[in-house]
Formats: sequence, structure tokens, C-alpha cells
Amino acid sequence: MTHNLDQTKGLRTLWIASAWLFVIAAGAGVAFRWGMMSGFPEGLRPDYLRHGHSHLMLMGWATPALMALMAARWPAQGGRPRHRSVCIVGWSAWVLALVSFPAFILWGYESVAIGSANLPVAAILSGFAIFSWYAFAVVYFRAHRGISRTPTLKLWDIAVASLVISSFGAWAVAGLMMGGVDSILWEVATVHFFVELFGAGWLVLGALGLLRSVVDTKDSTNERFGRILITMSVAFVFLVGLPRAYAPELLPLLGSAAAGLLAAGLALIIHSLWPRLDLWCRRVVYFLILNALMLATIAVPPLADWGLGAGLRLLYLHLAFAGFVTLALVIIAAVQWGPGTAGSRSAWLAAVLVLLATLVPMTGLWPSQFGGSWVLSLAFFGSLFATLAATGACLASLRE
Ligand code: HEM
Repeated sequence: MTHNLDQTKGLRTLWIASAWLFVIAAGAGVAFRWGMMSGFPEGLRPDYLRHGHSHLMLMGWATPALMALMAARWPAQGGRPRHRSVCIVGWSAWVLALVSFPAFILWGYESVAIGSANLPVAAILSGFAIFSWYAFAVVYFRAHRGISRTPTLKLWDIAVASLVISSFGAWAVAGLMMGGVDSILWEVATVHFFVELFGAGWLVLGALGLLRSVVDTKDSTNERFGRILITMSVAFVFLVGLPRAYAPELLPLLGSAAAGLLAAGLALIIHSLWPRLDLWCRRVVYFLILNALMLATIAVPPLADWGLGAGLRLLYLHLAFAGFVTLALVIIAAVQWGPGTAGSRSAWLAAVLVLLATLVPMTGLWPSQFGGSWVLSLAFFGSLFATLAATGACLASLRE
């Protein structure tokens, strides 16, 4: 079902360029795993490398690719075409993510002497990127002003609002760092508020909207109720990750309740869409089901405490972002612009499956008596395989 290729060619180019940033960011992930296995060379700090990786994945891959696909698909939902504006906004986000990547690797959030000034270069560059999100929100809401909302648009409304609101957390993170505020509670609270709302709100709901856009069925009561639960809860799930030693007891409990509501909301929407999904969309949604199951587990406070201690956060993030979001972007790009756009879908699926499978032994899900140094080697080879598979898929798409 390839359509409007000529009009959306610029958006397709932006999508492909974003997929290349996935490859670069994944390379940083491989370097991190290499360092954990064999030691980090002088001058390469693991925390800076992690910042560089996660920042480029979220801001350089998932965000511009999602913007491009949404803009290509919203005219079919009744939205006014805004291809040029979204290209300008999306490329701005892409360029800022790319230039801040080496800054994160070299300096992290630290200030650097430039002339007579001391500037946190990476934080400043990523701060500029936030203006591209605001620009996207303006373009999105103006393109849909006065237009009756389809179920896809209702999901995207929540996603774009989450993008804007999550940015307040990002400003707070930068503010605390620049102000030298030394509070673990505030540090964790602001980072988690930003990552959870940006991830579960903007990326996951944006990707769910993409899947909804290929399903031709009316809004159901379950779906409507699901959206209400999601809207009520998505901004509060971060509370569950607050450090127990510093946070008032009530806050993690509220976070658990929010995780339960979010899981229920996602389950209701998945249940409504499932009969209409084709094989590839179902494969993508399996990752969302696993994500919702993890959220449902977090809803039980003792299990949430256990999960935090067992290092499940990393698995949870990659299940949502590498599993569901990345595969949804790949599958819907193939629907929108033809299967060659993203290279082999099977290669992407294999990349994600291997990445996630090799993360499991690093968590408390794996019995500790079966652990050992092979766990780090496996994680390294898993991330290397995932990166090579995604690189192969991107190279193959160049031949299209
Ligand atoms: C080939 C694919 C990928 C590889 C090899 C990879 C590897 C890694 C590694 C090694 C870490 C640091 C782990 C640690 O702290 O022990 C990490 C963290 C992270 N990654 Fe990935 N990743 C991949 C895909 C993705 C994708 C697609 C996203 C998002 C779109 C993502 C977002 C993150 C985030 C948010 C963190 C956590 C950063 C933090 O805790 O500060 N990753 N990843």
C-alpha cells in the first residue's frame, strides 16, 4: 500500500537518515558493552557513552522518524498536509541530535572552557533540540485545528502533549546540573519524569497511533476507556522509580497505581485492535504486550521494589523503545513507502530479539548461580549482532 510517494519523498529521506542515526547510536551501545567486558580505555567514560547512546537513539532516531511518519500519514486522518514544515522541524532535531552526540561522549553534561566561558555544551545543544519539539507541536496542532478526531489522532494528541510536557522535566534536569543542585531525589525525579513521559507518552503512544492508522475500524467503548486510563496515568508512572530512601512512601505507591492504569489502558486498546492486525503488526504488538505486562507487574508495590533492585529498568526501556517503538517505525515505514524503505523487516526483528534476549541474563530474572563473566560477553555479542543486522538493513535500503 505505497502511496503519495512523490509528496512525502522528503519525509521518507528524513526517516532513512534517522535510521542511520540508530546505527551510530547502536555503535555507541556496542562500545559500552565492549568497555564493560574488556575495560574502558583512558578518556572514554562509560556514563558519557551511555548518555551519548540514549540521547542519539531517542532524539536522533525515534523522534525525527516518528515525526516524519506521522506527517506522512496524517492527511489520511483528515489533517492538513504539512510536509515541508515537518521536514524543517525534523531535520533540525536530527542535526542537533547528531552534533550533540560527540559532545555527550567527550564531556557528558559537564561544562567545558570555551574562550573565557565555561559552558555545558551537550546540555545546551540538547536544549536547542527541545525547541524543535515545540515547533512540531505547533505544526501538528495547527494542521489539525477544527478537525474531528479519529482514534489515531486522539492517540497522537496525547503523544504530542506528552512530548511538550516531558520537556519540562528535561529543562529541570539541565537546570539542576547547571545550578549545581545536589539532591538525589530531585535528580532521579526529573530524569525519570522526562524519560518516562517522553518514552511512554510521546514515543509509545505515537507509535501506537501509527499502528492504529493502518487499522480500519471504528472507535470502540474499550478503546475510548483505554485512552482515558492512559491519559490519567502516563505522567505519573515515573514516581515508581523514585529512590525509596529519599522519597515519601506515598509517591512510589502512586507510581505503582499509575503503572497499573497504564497497563490496563494499553491492554484495552490492544484488545480492540488485535483482530484487525496483520502478521507484522501483531509481531510488533507482542513487544507492547510484554511492556504492558511489565507495567502490570510494577503495579504490585513489592514486585516494583524487586524489579528496581533486579535491574529490570534497562530491559523495560529496551522492550519499549527498541522492541515496540523501533519495530513499529520500521513496519509502518514499509507500509507507507514500500518494504524497501527500511531494508529487511526480518533483520530488524532479529536485531531486537537478540538484543533483548542477551539483556535478560544481566537482570535478576536470571538465576545468579548460572551467572558469570560470559554474561557480559553475551551482551557484547548480542549488541554487536543487533547493530550489524540494523546496519545491513539500512545498507540494503540504499539500493532501493
Ligand atoms: C542495537 C540496539 C541497541 C543497543 C546495542 C543498545 C545498548 C545500550 C547499552 C549498552 C546501554 C547502557 C547499559 C547500561 O547502563 O548498562 C543502553 C542504555 C539505554 N538505551 Fe540502548 N541500545 C540499543 C537500542 C536502543 C534504542 C532503540 C533506544 C531508544 C530509542 C535505546 C535507549 C536507551 C536508553 C534510554 C538507555 C538508558 C540510559 C540511561 O539509563 O541513562 N537503546 N543501551
